[in-house]
Amino acid sequence: MTDSQTELSPEQQVAAARKAFEQEFERFARFTAGDLEAAVAEERALGELRTRHLGKKSALAATKKLIGRVAPEQRAAFGQLVQAAEGELVQSLDQAEQSLNDYIQNERTARESIDVTLPGRRPRFGHRHPITLLRERLEDIFVALGYAIEDGREIETDFYNFDSLNIPENHPARGWQDTFYTTEGFALRSQTSTVQIHAMQRRGVPVRMIAPGRVFRRDTPDPTHNPMFFQVEGLCVDRGITMAHLKGTVAEFLRRLFGPDTVTRFRPSYFPFTEPSAEFDFSCFKCKGSGCRICKNSGWIELGGSGMVHPNVLRAVGVDPQVYSGFAFGLGIDRMCALLYELDDIRLLFENDVRFLGQFE
Ligand code: FA5
Repeated sequence: MTDSQTELSPEQQVAAARKAFEQEFERFARFTAGDLEAAVAEERALGELRTRHLGKKSALAATKKLIGRVAPEQRAAFGQLVQAAEGELVQSLDQAEQSLNDYIQNERTARESIDVTLPGRRPRFGHRHPITLLRERLEDIFVALGYAIEDGREIETDFYNFDSLNIPENHPARGWQDTFYTTEGFALRSQTSTVQIHAMQRRGVPVRMIAPGRVFRRDTPDPTHNPMFFQVEGLCVDRGITMAHLKGTVAEFLRRLFGPDTVTRFRPSYFPFTEPSAEFDFSCFKCKGSGCRICKNSGWIELGGSGMVHPNVLRAVGVDPQVYSGFAFGLGIDRMCALLYELDDIRLLFENDVRFLGQFE
């Protein structure tokens, strides 16, 4: 209690306490809530105001202590005065608090409410990668020709990656493809030809299968090379299989993929696991052989390697080359994909840019 208050009469002290409250309360009476955050701050300030003017240490509480000290004949009247003052303060505070509270509740409900009539956000559907789209087309064609689909391993032992494919140790052919190795000495397969061996071991002969899959080579990336790419292997082993079957099968496959007018050409080549070996080209699907940008004006597009399965490969899986013969072929899916969709860089296929990939939906 201040000195000036002690000089005031008890009634004056009640009036002073009321006035002090009214002065501070005025801004709350005038407050028109405009936003939620301001209203919450105001509610807190109002609570503090209540403590200041109605709490144990408030001026009004001090006047209550005077009740016992006023003259007995004035005590009742003074007591009523204090009570009335307190009642007024409580009422003003309660009203202000109530209206702030209503505002805060309404505002919170409005903010949290969901407009159920708003259209929902549709989840974006994924779609298949262009390599997958092409792989599925290849699979459809070969399944229709009576081929089974084989799945192979991506990590191989030297036996499957080299030895069984007639690429013995120290043979110059091992340098022909640079291979990635795991720290345990396993090879990341450098071609799908490894699946020939697994397929013959598992299925025995006769066998007709294709094996699409991922392969790895230590090639520096450029528009036509990636260190990881896809190949599809084909293998057909039976009695009496000849080079004519190989040519017929590859030609039919390319006609089904690129159209009935497609012409196929074979060029002599070398692969350790086939003898004789041939690389095959097909007439450009864009210019039909007259020469254009896609075929680099040659009229032909190179597609892959092929040949008659080497007798040593058949022997490696316990098949008698005197009884059985077969052909195999392997082609690069990424480059074929680039040709089909007229991409000038196969690296686009693995940059995972959705603006690019979204065009193949
Ligand atoms: C082979 O891999 C042989 N295994 C193919 C084969 C199978 C021959 C069966 C005989 C019998 P080659 O190394 O040429 O062959 O690769 C085949 C195809 O893979 C190529 O025509 C090309 O389309 C693709 N290719 C090769 N290297 C890359 C690379 N770094 N990036 C993308 N595609 C590649």
